[in-house]
Amino acid sequence: MIDEKTLLHGITYTWFGISAVVLILLFFLTAPYGRHHASKGWGPSIPAQAGWLFMELPAVLVPILCMLLSTREQNIVIWLFLGIWLFHYIHRTFIYPFRMRMNGKKMLLLIASLAFLTNVSINYANFRWLTELGPLYPKSWLTNPRFLCGAAVFFVGFAINFHSDELLRKLRKPEETGYKIPKGGLYRWVSCPNYFGEILEWTGWFIATSSLPALAFLVWTISNLLPRAISHHRWYKETFDDYPSERKALIPYIL
Ligand SMILES: NC(=O)c1ccc[n+]([C@@H]2O[C@H](COP(=O)([O-])OP(=O)(O)OC[C@H]3O[C@@H](n4cnc5c(N)ncnc54)[C@H](OP(=O)(O)O)[C@@H]3O)[C@@H](O)[C@H]2O)c1
Repeated sequence: MIDEKTLLHGITYTWFGISAVVLILLFFLTAPYGRHHASKGWGPSIPAQAGWLFMELPAVLVPILCMLLSTREQNIVIWLFLGIWLFHYIHRTFIYPFRMRMNGKKMLLLIASLAFLTNVSINYANFRWLTELGPLYPKSWLTNPRFLCGAAVFFVGFAINFHSDELLRKLRKPEETGYKIPKGGLYRWVSCPNYFGEILEWTGWFIATSSLPALAFLVWTISNLLPRAISHHRWYKETFDDYPSERKALIPYIL
């Protein structure tokens, strides 16, 4: 019988491996959701809003469960980590799908189910580590430069991600479903500043917690969003003749 810490390490290292495979795969195959949704050959679809709610729910429930089931007495540092995580995921689960204009849009049940399982596993690894199996964070961690810089990077990333998604939302009138060229904010420089902001958030989370499961989550996020940004960028250039030629895909001036 293996102990839970060994299991958690196994899960964490498995995510590094899955991320490497997915990164390579996604350069050949675009994940079929959003503008790349495929209605045939991937099984049944469900309404996109229901899909988002279902797949992101574990990212709210699992951390709270880990906190409740922990045998440790938690200090302010762990409560702040939980607060930062929930700040992102309460928005992503309960607000984002209902603010974005997803009229009549569908999501593959396969995508929602895989994302659900991913969220269960990654949230378990991150929060069992923080609440029970990893080293204790002393209260002085709150003044450690790693915590302060990490939290700052996280909130800058959140602001970029939120603002960029808002600019996309405003592109569609209430009943519209099509696509336009996004403008303003970081769209001046890149096609997917929302992904750039998301990657910054989880970079900040990794710096602030300095934990291995946080690094696994960051690597997983990059392995998803980097190829997707390149696919979006290529799609924009193929779809709009007047697409700004100086715009990069994900990182201003670089990529
Ligand atoms: N942590 C992770 O691993 C991870 C993974 C995936 C996503 N996310 C986050 O989840 C959020 C959504 O991701 P996503 O992949 O769905 O982003 P996306 O492709 O940029 O789409 C975001 C929303 O804006 C709409 N939209 C996009 N481009 C548009 C345009 N040119 N004109 C009009 N509407 C447009 C989309 O509609 P359609 O749905 O109709 O295309 C969708 O509702 C992002 O903030 C992303 O960072 C995180």
